[in-house]
Amino acid sequence: MPHKIVSKKQLSENVFTADVEAPLVARSCKPGQFIILSISSEYSERIPLTIAGADIKTGTIRLIWQRLGKTTAELSNLKVGDSIENILGPLGQPTHIEKFGTVVCTGGGIGSAPLLPIAQGMKQAGNKIISILGARNKELIILEDEFRALSDELIIVTDDGSYGTKALVTGPLEEVCRRQPKPNLAVAIGPAIMMKFCCAITKKYEVPTVVSLNTIMVDGTGMCGGCRVEVGGQTKFVCVDGPEFDGHLVNFDLMMKRMSAYKNQEQQAIRQYDEHNCKIGLKKR
Ligand code: NAD
Ligand code: FES
Repeated sequence: MPHKIVSKKQLSENVFTADVEAPLVARSCKPGQFIILSISSEYSERIPLTIAGADIKTGTIRLIWQRLGKTTAELSNLKVGDSIENILGPLGQPTHIEKFGTVVCTGGGIGSAPLLPIAQGMKQAGNKIISILGARNKELIILEDEFRALSDELIIVTDDGSYGTKALVTGPLEEVCRRQPKPNLAVAIGPAIMMKFCCAITKKYEVPTVVSLNTIMVDGTGMCGGCRVEVGGQTKFVCVDGPEFDGHLVNFDLMMKRMSAYKNQEQQAIRQYDEHNCKIGLKKR
């Protein structure tokens, strides 16, 4: 069934958001869950995207993505009124939400998108929310207004100091963990290397930590094994056991190695897509 794009906006240089018709998903999804989409039926790649929000009244879900590979480039080129052919979901386990006390939510770059519904859910459950948003520069900070609205404290950092404090997210995270009383829970979402170092800090201060993993996925139902990770010495499937795990138990080094397995093919696919698009553009002129 085609899913119409009802609104679309560019959030930063390579980050886009769209509200997409998917009434059944909107009705049943919970924070932390994701969908797998394919843009057109026959030859499209399937990619997982976190559900960044849902509106039961309009029957739409909010997707946020970074133009990184061929499919996210194709998605970025779709316009309002265009359709995504298949949306499968909601998939994965919802976030475990309860009143923990103080929750420090750390989002690195595009990782702030999947973090948003989790932080909103934690706030609704009565937690005090300290949010840390980090990006390479000011233009790449996304969802600042949304996080400001739900947070008791919002800390912004940029790698180059063009906005907020000049630091990586691990700087303020350590400062928050050193406070007395320390946070009761940390949630960290972003690049794997960021989550690895966030977990090293929270482990030092014994703050339980949840991370959301975005491995390679194919079917999203636990059948192909493409998304497997090692957690506490055991093999887990991100699509059905996750995407959230105890960050102190995740083998990030193995995960990063597996995630880079198809880097050459991914680069070749986006190169060919961009070249093809350029040629179409030249013919049109
Ligand atoms: P980025 O590389 O610009 O990093 C964002 C921020 O993370 C930085 O500004 C910094 O504060 C922090 N960071 C990065 N490396 C760090 C390190 N070594 N130590 C401490 N802090 C560090 O991020 P980006 O380009 O927006 O993100 C792209 C990556 O995020 C992709 O690899 C994508 O796969 C991943 N991603 C993850 C999820 C998820 O659910 N985990 C969701 C979307 C995207
Ligand atoms: Fe195939 Fe998880 S995506 S097992």
